[in-house]
Amino acid sequence: MVKGIDRFSLDGKRALVTGGANGIGKAIAAALSAAGARVIVSDLDDAAARATAAELGGEALHLDVTDPGGVEAVAAETGALDILVNNAGIVHNGPAVEIAMEDWHRVLDVNLTGIFTTARCFGRAMVAAGKGSVVSISSICGHVPVWPQPQIAYNAAKAGVNLLTKSLAAEWAACGVRVNAIAPGYTATDLTLAGRSKPEWFNVWLERTPMGRLADPDEIAGVAVFLASDAASYVTGTVLTVDGGYTAL
Ligand SMILES: NC(=O)c1ccc[n+]([C@@H]2O[C@H](COP(=O)([O-])OP(=O)(O)OC[C@H]3O[C@@H](n4cnc5c(N)ncnc54)[C@H](O)[C@@H]3O)[C@@H](O)[C@H]2O)c1
Repeated sequence: MVKGIDRFSLDGKRALVTGGANGIGKAIAAALSAAGARVIVSDLDDAAARATAAELGGEALHLDVTDPGGVEAVAAETGALDILVNNAGIVHNGPAVEIAMEDWHRVLDVNLTGIFTTARCFGRAMVAAGKGSVVSISSICGHVPVWPQPQIAYNAAKAGVNLLTKSLAAEWAACGVRVNAIAPGYTATDLTLAGRSKPEWFNVWLERTPMGRLADPDEIAGVAVFLASDAASYVTGTVLTVDGGYTAL
């Protein structure tokens, strides 16, 4: 083996992916598993989590990231993980002047507070063990307000994820725990289904993406494997953008 290549291997590592039953989370769970990790697929959607876990030879677990007590209990039961992927997320579109406060809170609860809850509940055992890698799925929407669809709560939550990532990275660096995020551009999953069916949105998405297409979830997953692995041993506090050039313009 070429020196250094085995640093990408996740052999012997234990990983948990939130929202791992579908979309980007499912692709990440599959990629972590292919790289050698034992993967726990956690989700709200129990049937899909079981199906994904069965495909990968992993374990399925019910986990709602908006339920701190539930996350705490699962974390206590699971013990120290090597890899936590904070992936669960939802979107809400609507003009800022019209968005109902309950929609604002729902998006912030899942996409920002949910990441804080899971990171600190599972992070506690990582910090005690002195090792681990946390990877959170942010978005290009944490860097720039995407166009033309209004989604103030989603954008604000993802910007929060970016600084949450840097803050945890700074706190936990001395404990041997790395914390990073990935900022994907538009990706072909259920989350973008509604937008893809609206030509007045979808054509703008493609025009504003230099590569002229959406990402396949697998194209996000490879980056998660890198950040989870020892190949990224000096990478912490970064938000790695994977967007076909969207934020280059
Ligand atoms: N699809 C994109 O274009 C895109 C772009 C950038 C970032 N992202 C981010 O990637 C992540 C995954 O999105 P996706 O596109 O795969 O979406 P998706 O809708 O295909 O999958 C999301 C998964 O999260 C689960 N989930 C939702 N709420 C949950 C909760 N409270 N607790 C646990 N699980 C929950 C769902 O059941 C589902 O399995 C999200 O954080 C999203 O914001 C997506």
